[in-house]
This record gives sequence, structure tokens and C-alpha cells, in this order.
Amino acid sequence: MRPAATIVEVGPRDGLQNEKQTVPTASKLELLELLHSAGVQRLEVTAFVSPKWVPQMADHEEVLRRFESAPGLIRSVLVPNERGAAAALAIGVEELAIFTSASETFARKNINCSIAESLERFRPVAAIAMSSRVRLRGYVSCSFECPYEGEIAPEAVVAVARSLADLGCNEISIADTIGQAKALKVENVMRVTTAALPASMLACHFHDTHGRALENVDVALANGIRIFDSSIGGLGGCPYAPGAAGNLSTIPLAAHLEKAGYTIGLDMAALGKAQDFAFALRK
Ligand code: HMG
Ligand code: MG
Repeated sequence: MRPAATIVEVGPRDGLQNEKQTVPTASKLELLELLHSAGVQRLEVTAFVSPKWVPQMADHEEVLRRFESAPGLIRSVLVPNERGAAAALAIGVEELAIFTSASETFARKNINCSIAESLERFRPVAAIAMSSRVRLRGYVSCSFECPYEGEIAPEAVVAVARSLADLGCNEISIADTIGQAKALKVENVMRVTTAALPASMLACHFHDTHGRALENVDVALANGIRIFDSSIGGLGGCPYAPGAAGNLSTIPLAAHLEKAGYTIGLDMAALGKAQDFAFALRK
């Protein structure tokens, strides 16, 4: 039997957060439904962050409320603090995603606090995730390079990943926020990270600035990683990461994983419809 690999679709959040023009709530919901119809079961739906910091996600409550739960579907939302977590849980969600960084400067620019402060801020988020029995995902941004600090030491990534695991994260996504990682760097970071934590609780989140994301996926696969984040149509970027291009695009990732012998359980024709819709949103 072919082994399974999992795609976590982050386009409706990581993709749309970066669009210049306002994307109507109805269009966000249509994109979510198209992705779900294509068999996507892990979907990052929106971000319960400050609308002053990320105006594109200001409709987070309405998006989550109207994109209802379904059997097998894991609706994830990005939350920066307890307030965001409580608001999402009040509506109903299957996963909370917290996010910090391996770079102090990026943490400051993106969430206006130090890495240590962010971890403290996540403590109550982890507590309510646990008491509400929802999954907790953690991101380590700038795990390879930072737009402000340059190269990041693999030890810094491991330290933050361990702290997120200690907080109670079920899964930790190691992120190449600005898509600068090269295969050798990915190998170094994944080797030390998988020595510290089980590969089964790690995911990789590649942005595709230089077209190296699929090569980096192969390095991660060789290190035992089976969960990959991607964005439909390669939408994406981060408003606080200059140079961050789109995320690794979902269809090429799905095709690549299938070719490598993994089962991903997605309907490629239906994904194509979601991709066409995502492209049209950008026009
Ligand atoms: P702050 O200014 O330090 O804190 O922001 P604050 O407590 O003073 O809050 C500022 C304003 O936001 C206040 O409103 C709060 O009420 C409000 P005001 O009083 O000025 O009218 N606020 C909120 N509103 C809605 N929901 C909330 C919430 N919390 C406070 N949960 C804060 C600190 C963390 C809130 C802010 O920095 C923030 O929201 N940052 C989010 C930045 C962001 O979303 N970045 C993009 C996502 S990360 C990413 O893309 C990387 C990733 O994809 C992985 C990778 O590629 O690396 C995940
Ligand atoms: Mg990202």
C-alpha cells in the first residue's frame, strides 16, 4: 500500500492575507468550499489577528461562522493570543494555530513581542485548546532565513520547536517564511529538529520565492516529514516579511507527492477548479 502524505491548505489565510485588494467574504467562502469539495480536510480558514495589523483577515468571525464544520474536516485558524483563541472557540473550530519565530527581529515585526513573550502569550491559548479538546498547531517562522537577521542557526529553530511542543502543540510547522532556503540548509535544520522531536509531529511550510520549494520537500521527505503546507495557486506572502513570495502551490505539491509514491486523497480535477478561482481573485 502507498504511504500517506498530508497537505495542509493555507491559501485562504496565508495566501489571502497578503492580497492588495480586499477579497469579498463571499469569495473567501467560495474558495473554501471549492477546496473542501476537492477533498481537502485540513484547511487554514482565516486568522483571528488584529484587523489593524492584517486588514484582509478582518472578516475572520464571519468566515469561520459561515464555513461550517463537516465530518473529517479540520478547520484551523491562526491566533496570536488568548483573545483570538477565545473568539474562534466561541464560534467553533477544530484547530488553533499559534505562531512565533526563530528570529527575534521577525517576532518583533510580526507580533510585536519577543520570542519568549510570545511563548508566554501562548500559554493560555494552549490551556483553552486543551480544555476545549481542539488541536494545537505551532509555527516556527524564519526557520532558515530571516529578512532582517539573515541566516538562522538550526539550534534556534530546535529551541523554539521544543518550547512549542512543551506548550502542548500536536504539530509544529517549520516555516521558510521568505522562501530562501536551499536544500543543504533544509537538511541541516530538519536533521537536528527530527533528532529533538518525532518527525510525525513536524510539518514543513515552504514559500516558493526561488522555485526551490519542491526540492526542499524532497529533503524533508527524506528526513521523515509527511505533512506539508501549501497554498492553492501559490497565493501568499507575509505582510511583515519583505520578499516573501507565494507559498508552495498546492497542485504541483500534490502531483509531486503522488509521483513520489504517496497517497494524498485529493481530487486533482476539483483542485483545478479551486485554483482557477484563486487565480481569478487576483485579477
Ligand atoms: P499589539 O499592537 O502589540 O497589541 O499587537 P495590542 O494588544 O495593543 O493590540 C492592538 C490592537 O489589536 C488593539 O486594537 C487590540 O484590541 C486588537 P485597538 O485597541 O488599537 O483598537 N487586537 C485584536 N483584534 C482582533 N483579534 C485579536 C486581537 N488582539 C489584539 N486576537 C498582535 C499584537 C499580536 C495582536 C498583532 O501584532 C497582530 O495581530 N499580529 C498579527 C500579524 C499577522 O497576522 N501576520 C501574518 C501571519 S504570520 C505568517 O504569515 C507566517 C506563517 O505563515 C508561517 C511562515 O510562513 O513563517 C504563519
Ligand atoms: Mg507563511
